[in-house]
Amino acid sequence: MRLEDEIQRRKTFAIISHPDAGKTTLTEKLLLFGGAIQVAGAVKSNKIKRSTTSDFMEIEKQRGISVSTSVMSFAYKNYLINLLDTPGHKDFAEDTYRTLTAVDSVILVIDSVNGVEAQTLRLMEVCRMRATPIMIFINKLDRDGKNYFDLFEEIEKKLNIALHPITIPINNGKNFKGVYNLEQKNIRFFSPHSKDSEQEIFNVEDLNNAELIAKIGEVDHKHLIDDIHLLEGVYGKLNTSDYLNARIAPVFCGSAVNNFGILELLEHFINLAPSPLNRATTVKVIEPQDSKFSGFIFKIHANLDPKHRDRIAFLRVCSGVFKRNTYYHHVRLQKDLRFSNPYTFMASQKEVLEDAYPGDVVGLFDTGNFKIGDTLTTGDDFYFTGIPTFSPEIFKELVNKNPMKTKQLEKGILQLTDEGIAQLFTQFGGNKKIIGCVGDLQFEVIQYRLLNEYGATCSFNTLPFYKACWLEGDKTAIENFAKFKQANIALDKTDKLVYLAQSEWFLNTEIRNNPDISFLFTNETQQK
Ligand code: G4P
Repeated sequence: MRLEDEIQRRKTFAIISHPDAGKTTLTEKLLLFGGAIQVAGAVKSNKIKRSTTSDFMEIEKQRGISVSTSVMSFAYKNYLINLLDTPGHKDFAEDTYRTLTAVDSVILVIDSVNGVEAQTLRLMEVCRMRATPIMIFINKLDRDGKNYFDLFEEIEKKLNIALHPITIPINNGKNFKGVYNLEQKNIRFFSPHSKDSEQEIFNVEDLNNAELIAKIGEVDHKHLIDDIHLLEGVYGKLNTSDYLNARIAPVFCGSAVNNFGILELLEHFINLAPSPLNRATTVKVIEPQDSKFSGFIFKIHANLDPKHRDRIAFLRVCSGVFKRNTYYHHVRLQKDLRFSNPYTFMASQKEVLEDAYPGDVVGLFDTGNFKIGDTLTTGDDFYFTGIPTFSPEIFKELVNKNPMKTKQLEKGILQLTDEGIAQLFTQFGGNKKIIGCVGDLQFEVIQYRLLNEYGATCSFNTLPFYKACWLEGDKTAIENFAKFKQANIALDKTDKLVYLAQSEWFLNTEIRNNPDISFLFTNETQQK
C-alpha cells in the first residue's frame, strides 16, 4: 500500500472523561466492534481496568486505578484505529495531557447524570490549546439524568464549544426509548444489553406514523417532534471543517454499558475524524506524507518486571515510515539508534512490528536513552513543538532516608522524572530537591518505585507552594527577581528558572510588581 493510503486509513485518537463517566466501557465496546477483543455477553465495564488488558504496572493492579496509558489498535472497515487509552484517575492527569499531544482527535464522554465535571474542564483546556477536534458521547441515558437541552446548554457554556447534535435521546432513565438520528432520520430503539444488530432501526419517513406513535407513546412522540423541529431549525448539516478546526463538536447519545448508540458514533468517527495531521517543529511544519521518517516520544513507561529497569518509550510516528532494525537519529543525544524489537500494541499483548506509519504508536525498549519530547528523525535536527509541561499542584521536598543509597536515589529520581511521573526542581542556590506532582498518589508511586526498582528509601516534607510558574521575559529583571525571592525560586531539569508561589494572592502580587516578567503555568518541553 502507498504511504498516502496508509496515512488516510489511520485514525489516532483518545477517549477522555471525568472518572466514572464510562470511558473504559466505551473503549471496550469499540474494541468489540473492531473485533479486537471477543467477549461473550455484557462485560463489566471496569474489567479492562482491573484485568491485565490495559494495565502494565504492578501498582495499578494493587490499586485498580488506571495509572498507565496504553495503546489499542484495531481495524474497522478499511480503517486502522489507534486508540490511546488515558488514565482516569485525576492524580495522573499529566499523563493524559501528554497523551493528548500524540492524538489527532478525541472523543469526550459525558455522564448524562452528572454533566460537565471538574476533570472534563481541565481536559478540555488541553484540547483547546492544541485545537484538537472533539466528538462528544453523552453516556448513561438509561439512567435518570439531566434534561437533554439543559445538558446541551451546560456543555456549550462550561466547555465553551459549539455543539452539533447528531443523535438525540427519546426520554431517559426507565423511559429511555432510543435515539433519533437527525442526519439519517431514523430511530434506534433501546433494548438493554443487546448487540447493535439486534437493535431495531425504524426509518422515519413520516413523523406522524401511527406505528411510531404506538411504539414510543404519545407524550414522548410529542416531545420528539418538538425537539426535532427545534433542532432542525437551528442546526443544518454539520460543517466538517468546523469540526476539524475544533470549532464545533458533533454530539451523540447512548449507553455504553448497553452497547447502545455506539455504532452511530463509530461510523461518524471513521468518516469525519482526521487522519494523521501535520505537526509543528522547531524548524518547519512536518507533513505525514514527507518520505523522511520522524516521530517523538510522548510517554515513557516502566517495565512491569522490577528486576529489569528497562522501560518502554512510546513513539508517535509523524512522517514517513518507521522500520525495524534501521538507524534513526536521536536529536537530543546526537546519536544514531536502531531498534531490533519495536512493537505494536493490542493492550498488553505486544507484537514485534516491521514498519509503522504516521499516526501509529511504536513501543521502543529503552534503557535510559529517552525523555518525554525526544525526537527521532532520519538525520535532520529538529524537535516537535507543542509538548507542554504543566505546573504541578503539590510540592514536596525529597528526603533521602538511607545515605548509603544516595546514588541510587539520585539516579532513580532522575529516571522517574524523565518518564514524566513527576517534575523535579532544585532549590535555587541550594541542593534541596523538590518534587512537583498533580496528585498525592504520585508521591506514593515514587516512594514505591524508588524502593522496589532502585533500593532507595525516601520520605517527603510538604512544602507550602501551590503553583510553579516558569519565568520568561527581561533577563535582568528575572535575575534580580530570582535573587530577591530566592526562597521561592527553583530550577527545573533544564535549568529554567521557576517561581514557586505560595498562593494565588502572592502570585498575583508578583505578577503586578514585575511587569517585565511573564509567569507561565505551562512550559514547552525542552531538551537538554
Ligand atoms: P471510567 O472508565 O470513565 O472511569 O468509567 P467506567 O467505564 O469504568 O464506568 C464507570 C461505571 O459506570 C461502571 O460501573 C460502568 O458499568 C457504569 N456505566 C458505564 N456506562 C454506563 C451506561 O451507559 N449506563 C449505566 N447505567 N452505567 C454505565 P461500576 O459500578 O463502577 O462498575 P461495574 O461493576 O458495573 O463494572
